[in-house]
Amino acid sequence: MAIRKIVTLGDDVLRKKSRPVVKFDEKLWQLLDDMKDTMIKADGVGLAAVQVGVLRRAIVIDVGDGLIELINPEIIETSGEQEGSEGCLSLPGRYGIVKRPNYVKLRAQNRKGQWRLYEGTELKARCFCHEIDHLDGIVYKDKEIKEVTAEEILADRKGKDD
Ligand code: CO
Repeated sequence: MAIRKIVTLGDDVLRKKSRPVVKFDEKLWQLLDDMKDTMIKADGVGLAAVQVGVLRRAIVIDVGDGLIELINPEIIETSGEQEGSEGCLSLPGRYGIVKRPNYVKLRAQNRKGQWRLYEGTELKARCFCHEIDHLDGIVYKDKEIKEVTAEEILADRKGKDD
């Protein structure tokens, strides 16, 4: 396992479309292990392979309820709507408000190549959409309603807690 370098906006690779994973071999498992370590070290909740410079349709996500590995994910159902702040490990220090579905159901392969169904609401749904966008060369900034600062996000969360 190793920490990989996260590419940032401005690097052309982030704008490219990732290709499907076809081999579920040790090289893929190494990539997924490294992506997990890289995401945890960077304190992120999701990471797409393209963000470490690998143009394959692979994602790791952990929104606090366990690691999910999504290979060749396809969204099959969405419902509702939510607006919330997003950041991205490839756009360090920036945040923006993005509109996403509130519920997302998808199918994806696991590291052994088996198709599974996954679903999520709120943060997890948003994370699914954000990471799958990366596989098509899209970053949250492309869909941003408005840019916000870290201070504004904290103030907003505090308001909700009070
Ligand atoms: Co991102």
